[in-house]
Amino acid sequence: MLDRLSPQAPDALLALIRLHAADPREDKIDLGVGVYRTEDGATPVFAAIKAAEQVLLDTQESKSYLGPEGDMGFVAALMPYIFGAGDPTMGGRIQGMQTPGGTGAVRLALALAQKAGITRVCMGVPSWPNHAQILADLGLELVTFPHARHDGTADLDAVLDAIEQNGPDTAVLIHGCCHNPTGIDYTPDDWDMIADGFASSSTFPIIDTAYQGLGHGMEEDAAGMRKVLAKVPEAFIAYSCDKNFGQYRDRVGAFYVLAKDAGALDTAFSNANALARAAWSMPPDHGGAAVRIILRDATMTAQWLAELDTMRARMRQVRDALAKAGSAGRVDLTPLGHQNGLFSMLPITKEEVATLREQHGIYMAASGRINIAGLTPSNLPKFIAALAAVAV
Ligand code: LMR
Repeated sequence: MLDRLSPQAPDALLALIRLHAADPREDKIDLGVGVYRTEDGATPVFAAIKAAEQVLLDTQESKSYLGPEGDMGFVAALMPYIFGAGDPTMGGRIQGMQTPGGTGAVRLALALAQKAGITRVCMGVPSWPNHAQILADLGLELVTFPHARHDGTADLDAVLDAIEQNGPDTAVLIHGCCHNPTGIDYTPDDWDMIADGFASSSTFPIIDTAYQGLGHGMEEDAAGMRKVLAKVPEAFIAYSCDKNFGQYRDRVGAFYVLAKDAGALDTAFSNANALARAAWSMPPDHGGAAVRIILRDATMTAQWLAELDTMRARMRQVRDALAKAGSAGRVDLTPLGHQNGLFSMLPITKEEVATLREQHGIYMAASGRINIAGLTPSNLPKFIAALAAVAV
């Protein structure tokens, strides 16, 4: 039977982790997979998470099953941060469930959309490569449009066309903030137009928010998404705590639905629960429980937000330093200064990416995507010099 399978290429981003680990060069630079790094190149566990894990260790009385929805205390505790503290349920129209990471949330959003009759998903490209992989695995048609213009701004017309020229069998998948891989986000004015576009069409909004707090702040990074939610009857939100709580391998995410009323919300979740039960039965508990403990404790919450501030400030410093450098070879680095989040894309070829890896020990995705947090004051000069030498 196994002869009927053909070999598949390993996921390119994850393969990069192994390639980098196997490189003996001491001055190698990892700009590959999207994890935050300190100036020492470490990806530490948040102190707030450590404190919450200690509480969990001391107080957890049972590891008995919860159910496909996971820890609803965690799901509820996040909601004021995502949807606003005033009325995070928007009058009882938003509910959620826990998922295995943001990927689980995206998968569940797309599978539920498909079950509700969506056959086609429009998405700006480039995007996180796993978006297309999940769509292909589900058998949903992918229609792409350009995410960014040549001038480094988000292509508003392209997303508006996708929203306005489609109908109820189509979803448009957009990034809530800190666009992966370009770092180019919609402006507040763009979001107004996107919200109006969704409001006046029957195209379904799916918003993937994996980096809240890494752009301009927790509130600021949710503002665009909230504009859409304020104007539409229905939407799905895929949420990840992998980055903003540093929970990467613990797989902490949530899937939220905005529905027109409580009845529609209940029906949506009866279907979402069934899909989750069939796919993974229930999400892993530990990481979500730690987030719940933090968010129910004012001191731990303040500690978490301060840690997030430090991360964001460090990434801004790197972006400022890159912009200040001006250019490296033919690459204009100045746009990186006003992009957001962990990622930006260098306009270089696959061959140049390979040369940077082979000759200089600098690792990045073949697309030219770099993880900004992989750069530090000590490796930045080497990075800029190598780029200047390769991208002539
Ligand atoms: C990334 O884009 O590097 C991260 O979101 C990690 C992943 O799962 O691909």
